[in-house]
Amino acid sequence: MAIEEQGGLKGSGTSKVEPATGKLGVMVVGLGAVSTTLIAGVEAVRRGLAKPIGSLTQMGTIRLGKRTDNTSPKIKDFVPLADLNDVVFTGWDIFEDNVYQAASHAKVLEKDLVEQLKPYLETIKPLPAVFDQYYVKRLTGTNVKKGKNKRDLAEQVRADIRAFKKTVDRVVVIWAASTEIFIKQTAVHQSIEAFEAGLENNDIAIAPSQIYAYAALTEGVPFANGAPNLTVDFPAMVELSKKHAAPICGRDFKTGQTFMKTVLAPAFKARMLGVSGWFSTNILGNRDGEVLDDPESFKTKEESKLGSLDYIFQPDLYPDLYKNLYHKIRINYYPPRGDDKEAWDNIDIFGWLGYPMQIKVNFLCRDSILAAPIALDLVLFMDLAKRTPSLRSIGVQEWLSFYLKSPQTAEGLYPEHDLFIQSMKLKNTLRHIMGAGLITHLGLEYYD
Ligand SMILES: NC(=O)c1ccc[n+]([C@@H]2O[C@H](COP(=O)([O-])OP(=O)(O)OC[C@H]3O[C@@H](n4cnc5c(N)ncnc54)[C@H](O)[C@@H]3O)[C@@H](O)[C@H]2O)c1
Repeated sequence: MAIEEQGGLKGSGTSKVEPATGKLGVMVVGLGAVSTTLIAGVEAVRRGLAKPIGSLTQMGTIRLGKRTDNTSPKIKDFVPLADLNDVVFTGWDIFEDNVYQAASHAKVLEKDLVEQLKPYLETIKPLPAVFDQYYVKRLTGTNVKKGKNKRDLAEQVRADIRAFKKTVDRVVVIWAASTEIFIKQTAVHQSIEAFEAGLENNDIAIAPSQIYAYAALTEGVPFANGAPNLTVDFPAMVELSKKHAAPICGRDFKTGQTFMKTVLAPAFKARMLGVSGWFSTNILGNRDGEVLDDPESFKTKEESKLGSLDYIFQPDLYPDLYKNLYHKIRINYYPPRGDDKEAWDNIDIFGWLGYPMQIKVNFLCRDSILAAPIALDLVLFMDLAKRTPSLRSIGVQEWLSFYLKSPQTAEGLYPEHDLFIQSMKLKNTLRHIMGAGLITHLGLEYYD
């Protein structure tokens, strides 16, 4: 079917999206720098103290119809999203600090703002976590659940979710806890039965993040993975997600360096410019940096960061341009900078007749300031997916790749990393579920 810019193809997922009535409960795994910046930030926005910059759900618009129609409502007015005033937070952590203490420790937000929000932040106290130091070597904590096996721990998380559900109308779980060690899929990940047997036998390939995900999905609750761990991207979780109509997405918030990479690399490829080398290094001094200083956690992050260029450049299709690309990534723990990460990229490109050129990118970013709005959008969109008949039972929400470094896809499908393709995919998904015309940017109708 011909699809025109004005939206000749109507969205077919028009069975009605349920309204966002009542309270949305957000359960955050890990109340560290990202989560406390998210929670304090949402409260600051609710009180009119700051603007939700960086959040597409709060600030973004979506064009409907032709360019000449001048119709671009706010996304939150076009799709039924939970209102920030209806969002209620809770979470788990291995430390007993409440969110005020954890935010003070993280030192992302200015002291003045955190003090102003203190009475609210103090009320959010972490539930005991599922934790095992084998999976995050650099941490030890005392606020940890005890159980006779992993099945028992999963049941305790399910009980936490059920108890919270009684106080709100809907629940979403998001992993914003530390990066676990690199784990490969094994037989235990291949089906629900194998996974449940693995929980019973304390299978070593089942990390705590997988236990939370299992608990959430079994309770019919969507689960988003903001870290690079193997958590929901294996067959047993996809099966569970479909079975319980509980959407999943992952992995790893796309915030700083990879965000820039997935903007620049598509530009080089669009212009058929070659790339011979891409060296990326970072200094980072927060707890995340400390955890990533452990080689096993770094390996998980490295794998997640490496994938994007290969997929964008398609070296098999363009051997002359990208076959010999040398791609290297380093993360160095450097305490003086705290959450203010500095990233450098040196990119060796080549143009006409093979003549070399260089590009340097120096991004002085704030890690959690970039991550918090992504976490917010993910929970609001995952809640929307759960209320959308054509999305809730499909498992992986690939349309949320926009937010993720290493996007999960249907089996056998390569991920789209190009930020602008991801953005188009996201907006067309919203148009589709609301029955509006899709936009392809063909635009020939203006020249009839
Ligand atoms: N900030 C970013 O830009 C960014 C980008 C992509 C991914 N991430 C990922 O997000 C995650 C959070 O980052 P952060 O900077 O907030 O880290 P952080 O170290 O400040 O916070 C993580 C928290 O998780 C807790 N935790 C660890 N294991 C847990 C478990 N099993 N159950 C409950 N809590 C647990 C820790 O105690 C800590 O409080 C990390 O995995 C990081 O790699 C962050």
